[in-house]
Amino acid sequence: MVSRRHLLTGGAAAAIAGAVAGVTGTLSVTAMNTAAPQPAGEQLFGDERIPFFGAHQAGIATAPPAHGTFLAFDLKESVDRESLRRALVLLTDDAARLTQGLTPLADTEAELAALPARLTITFGFGPRLVSLANPRVMPAWLSPLPAFGIDRLQPGWCDGDLLLQVCADDALSVAHACRMLVKDMRAFGTLRWSQGGFRRAAGAEASGTTMRNLFGQVDGTANPAPGSAGFDEVVWAGAEAPGWLTGGTSLVLRRIAMSLDRWDELDRSGRELAVGRTLSTGAPLTGTKETDAADLDAVTELGLPVIPAHAHLRRARTDNPRERIFRRGYNYEHMVAGSAPEAGLLFASYQADVSAQFIPIQKRLDTLDIMNVWTTPIGSAVFAIPPGCEEGGFVGESLFTD
Ligand code: HEM
Repeated sequence: MVSRRHLLTGGAAAAIAGAVAGVTGTLSVTAMNTAAPQPAGEQLFGDERIPFFGAHQAGIATAPPAHGTFLAFDLKESVDRESLRRALVLLTDDAARLTQGLTPLADTEAELAALPARLTITFGFGPRLVSLANPRVMPAWLSPLPAFGIDRLQPGWCDGDLLLQVCADDALSVAHACRMLVKDMRAFGTLRWSQGGFRRAAGAEASGTTMRNLFGQVDGTANPAPGSAGFDEVVWAGAEAPGWLTGGTSLVLRRIAMSLDRWDELDRSGRELAVGRTLSTGAPLTGTKETDAADLDAVTELGLPVIPAHAHLRRARTDNPRERIFRRGYNYEHMVAGSAPEAGLLFASYQADVSAQFIPIQKRLDTLDIMNVWTTPIGSAVFAIPPGCEEGGFVGESLFTD
């Protein structure tokens, strides 16, 4: 057995490669599944697993579970191409095990790993990581976003070399996975920021229900449906991307503060006009059901547009089929003694090409969107999300071989 210390310190590449090659095939060398048996008649989901290996990383097309934490790391100055490779091999092994309810090497809390509750761990690469591994294949869009007038960015919520997105239906599963990953990253980098958020709990409403954000809005209606051709086209990197990214995508993560107290001051009709949809069902103001198409030409008796010119829906929308994104965000809220809650949206947008798809939308919203009155971007980061890997490989391998 390879000791944990040996894995994490220098000169352990061969040992890791051997250990991982030996374990990723079956994930059973030190695995201990301690999940309790399911009592008859009770519907439990703690044992549900999302496959880790595959053409795409899990955690994007996967139905979003209740909890999500995004961890960004700065790589240490001492990390070179070879030690970066070692880090990715090690983290892949951890992720492959944790997502399947198995204990990573030297996990001392096997009971916590036993219930993955649909845990996914998704890797993302910042520009510095890509240039360390293979600067020739840097995607043209992989850099911080241009500055927008609405931005009030705090450096502590921005950028990063390596992203690990950890999502599950159980907060304890997320916490344990995060702790293991942070522990294993210690030899290679430091945690730059961690941002956690939530949606409704599993089983609280029918699966497939569009999420609600903290303004109470139905948020995500116009998303392309995972599994559809439209989704594949919007999300997965195509021929224009560097070859290593085929089957991958990009993530723009914006921490957007939402002023809940000021939103409260607006009456219901004002709140509905701000987006162009009803709060109760999420239907466009020109329709009755969430899925009804919005009629942007409809006018009131006074001849005013039913969906105002400044409404978020109208401003975010375009006829250009290229300017589409897939949103999969999480709410965050921290109560603060003596002041307004720190609340908002971890706005997570996935698209094949940030410059062609995300930036034109954000530019339009920057120019005009009434929602800017109540929302303020305070964090921003862009990552390349590499494709998935097969058993025996590691996430990001194609970056080293492209
Ligand atoms: C806290 C900030 C935000 C909130 C609360 C918010 C909320 C909403 C809501 C309620 C909808 C309507 C339902 C839906 O289709 O999802 C919507 C639509 C949309 N939002 Fe946002 N949004 C925010 C920020 C952004 C940002 C930063 C972008 C991109 C740069 C964006 C892009 C879109 C797009 C593309 C649509 C669909 C428009 C359509 O085709 O109908 N949103 N958003």
